[in-house]
Amino acid sequence: MFRNTCIGLLIIIAFGACHFNRKAKNNTENSFDTLMVKDVHTLSNADSIAMQHLDLDIKVDMDKKQITGCAVWTINNYKSAKQLILDTYDMAIDSVFVDGKSVSHSLDTQIKFLGSALHIPIGNGTKLVKVFYKTGRNARALQWLDSQQTHDKKHPFLYTQSESIYARSWIPCADGPGIRFTYSAHVTVPKWLLALMSALNPQEVSADGVYDFSMDTPIPAYLMALAVGDIAFKGIDERTGVYAEPGMIEKARYEFEDVGKMVNTAEQLYGHYRWGRYDVLVLPPGFPIGGMENPRLTFCTPTVIAGDRSLVSLIAHELAHSWSGNLVTNATWDDFWLNEGFTNYFERRIMEQMMGIGYSDMLWELGYQDLVDNVKELGATSKDTWLKLDLKGRDPDDGLTDIPYEKGSHFLKLIENTVGRERFDRFLATYFETHAFKTITTEAFLNYMDTTLLKDDPEQKKMIDIDAWVYGPGIPANCPRAGQERFLRVDGERDKFLKGTPPATLTTLEWTTHEWLQFLRKMPADLSALQMKKLDDAFMFRNSGNSEIADLWFIMSVRANYSAPYPKMEQFLSSVGRRKFLEPLYGEMMKTPKNAEMAKRLYEKYRQNYHPLAQESLDKMVLKKG
Ligand code: BES
Ligand code: ZN
Repeated sequence: MFRNTCIGLLIIIAFGACHFNRKAKNNTENSFDTLMVKDVHTLSNADSIAMQHLDLDIKVDMDKKQITGCAVWTINNYKSAKQLILDTYDMAIDSVFVDGKSVSHSLDTQIKFLGSALHIPIGNGTKLVKVFYKTGRNARALQWLDSQQTHDKKHPFLYTQSESIYARSWIPCADGPGIRFTYSAHVTVPKWLLALMSALNPQEVSADGVYDFSMDTPIPAYLMALAVGDIAFKGIDERTGVYAEPGMIEKARYEFEDVGKMVNTAEQLYGHYRWGRYDVLVLPPGFPIGGMENPRLTFCTPTVIAGDRSLVSLIAHELAHSWSGNLVTNATWDDFWLNEGFTNYFERRIMEQMMGIGYSDMLWELGYQDLVDNVKELGATSKDTWLKLDLKGRDPDDGLTDIPYEKGSHFLKLIENTVGRERFDRFLATYFETHAFKTITTEAFLNYMDTTLLKDDPEQKKMIDIDAWVYGPGIPANCPRAGQERFLRVDGERDKFLKGTPPATLTTLEWTTHEWLQFLRKMPADLSALQMKKLDDAFMFRNSGNSEIADLWFIMSVRANYSAPYPKMEQFLSSVGRRKFLEPLYGEMMKTPKNAEMAKRLYEKYRQNYHPLAQESLDKMVLKKG
């Protein structure tokens, strides 16, 4: 009850434009301009105060696993608010100064998911608010790795993951995607370690462990990022490069050879890349997600390093966010498909340009299969299968399903097919240009499309049936489907195997990862252990260095009670922390009592290697906790 009233009181409805000096306008207008937006996932009152600039001065203590320091906010109190309210999560606030004077602050009790609101009294003309703080042990954004948990096993490592609402666990801030600010940071780390942020970055270790960063382009808090570790750099071309642990850097450099070309390709599609450099940081294996589009510096899992550049569409995805997401940002997490659906679409357009349509068709088809499975899981009538989500009172990460990604991108593909590629591309380029550094709601996007792209053609609009896609469940009947040419050949080979042809004689030469995935995904669910063995002996799936194939193979092995790959599976589970791989694999094990025992044993053994967010979901699944 308390929680609901509290949320209710703090829900913010922001109206209209703002009237004050140019600089302040930049960082406010884009948050809430023409929109009427309420973001139920921030406790801050940034609707009435412009959060213009953040100046961070922090020390990273790798032994204590704690960040301490201060955050100085330059604000414009243009509505004469009496207090500034910031988001925090599991954080100790030591002291607060307003324009140099000490003030008494108060910290509310913690609200589930959202954390504690920090109240700071301010005056009409307040400019600077300085907060001294320490992070807590449950800071959800931070993963502290002991040296044993890194690739090279020599030095500890720290990285942040701020999306969706975890920035507040390492910076007291106004933590909503609609609130943008510029930042600078002075970061002290143990000597010999390199510090990197979503900003202008060093390429070498400093002598004293001190690093200064600046990000002059306004970004929302979920794009704040920091990594500290034994990290090396290698350039790709003049504006792109790769960071990784020294023992990984050569492999990473090889894998990402085409990243420079990727940026050029993306620019040809939808306009100038606005962020200066584009670098990729390969994290240690426990990174819980595939990639994170931190501006100027994508964070990515080492599981994309397959050795043959076959999984680099993930980089295309994170790069595409430099337009869809980082430049034009979803106003609230209910509009998440505007970030991920556009990015998925853009990713596939980049891959089509670079690898040909046969290749991107495979990405589309695998995505479509994920969509079908996910709708089945969520329930065909579930509101969680709408594009426009309703995450009020929930963890925004509940919206992190295949729906925003796949239903979102298929919706855009349908629009492309309906209006024609040329018109759609022109529309998208103008959309990014017009909304650059702004946030947008689903409604504002639909309205924009209505008054531009679809203005003169009601017939086309009817054919698309926007409402069925955005405010309706499941997969609409007019969902487009990609060409199946390469996969039909794969299906043919699978049929032959199922009719008894020895696998070694199948035509699999030059198959890419995606063909192998199609080959395995569509195997019948009741494949016998003997059939599994035959496939494994011929294709050595259990030794696959390709994380996508290995994970699927382990899942199939558990299903068929085929135990030869179990030692490899254990190795995989001991290091890989990517939730996309862990959850389905542990989930498969939980289906029978005997395998559930194995799941529990393995999970308890390797739990400490996983990210707090992965632990949270796996505790529920495997240990039935929470
Ligand atoms: N921005 C997302 C990751 C994210 C979303 C983290 C929401 C936390 C909350 C990132 O761009 C992403 O989509 N990553 C995908 C990879 C992609 C190729 C689909 C992932 O991590 O699997
Ligand atoms: Zn994404």
